[in-house]
Amino acid sequence: MTALGVSQDDKAELTDAVFRRVARLAKDNWGLNLEDGKRPLVTARLWKRVVASGAGDFPTYVGKVEDGDQVECDHFISALTTNVTHFFREQHHFDFLESAILPGFRGRGPLRVWSAGCSSGQEPYSIAASIRAVLGASADARILATDVDPDILERAQKAVYAKSETSFPNPALETRIFDKKQSAKHRHVRENIVNLVTFRRLNLIQPWPISGRFDVIFCRNVAIYFDKPTQASLWAQFAAHLNPGGFLFIGHSERIETPAAIGLSPAGITTYQKH
Ligand SMILES: C[S@@+](CC[C@H](N)C(=O)[O-])C[C@H]1O[C@@H](n2cnc3c(N)ncnc32)[C@H](O)[C@@H]1O
Repeated sequence: MTALGVSQDDKAELTDAVFRRVARLAKDNWGLNLEDGKRPLVTARLWKRVVASGAGDFPTYVGKVEDGDQVECDHFISALTTNVTHFFREQHHFDFLESAILPGFRGRGPLRVWSAGCSSGQEPYSIAASIRAVLGASADARILATDVDPDILERAQKAVYAKSETSFPNPALETRIFDKKQSAKHRHVRENIVNLVTFRRLNLIQPWPISGRFDVIFCRNVAIYFDKPTQASLWAQFAAHLNPGGFLFIGHSERIETPAAIGLSPAGITTYQKH
């Protein structure tokens, strides 16, 4: 207990009222839907920032974020996002990309792909590996990879992964990303894959500074953290940013309720094509 009767445990507790302030900030600024069941996780993740920022307690810390302190806003969003990903995740999307989409771009370009919510880079690098496999060294293609979390983007841009954190659906896919001769603990993604990808910070629930349209958009396992109206508006915006005939891939537990209403038709498992 301190002289004021406040124990360390009291300070580390996220009360109902302060949790509601955190949830409001996360929803209004980044679209994240924090239900009460997530309170223990949110408490643990943000407490580290309460200490590191010198705020000392949750109300003071949350006040900093509410006041728009840029450094703390960046840490806040990094602490709250879930960045789970892996190379060739939901491999059927890559099979579809390679068999049904990329052959149509042989000798034709430029192919424009967007990986929205790219996390630590495994998704855009897998897309790049598919492009190299089908279109070869002279592929006329660009991949835009965006995420809201500045820390994870920095990791993605380094293109270096510990052997222990890289799992692949099969060994042949692994050699597409990494040179087998690289036995080091930390392996660098092949240069001809890295150079197809451009990383940018972008918050999907704020206006997008994006011009032109895409042939393929991946936005997988991102909208799941948003509420239904935010998801619906996101799907409509993606549809508007696709070229006619372009494709949208979404995550395995996500769904577009009325694709026809936004100009999309189902084209496979969690895959949609623009009319
Ligand atoms: C679970 S990961 C998905 C990574 C990859 N798409 C995949 O399926 O493996 C979700 C990513 O969405 C990002 N994210 C969450 N809210 C976002 C927002 N408002 N704008 C952009 N990205 C966001 C997170 O930072 C995180 O890296």
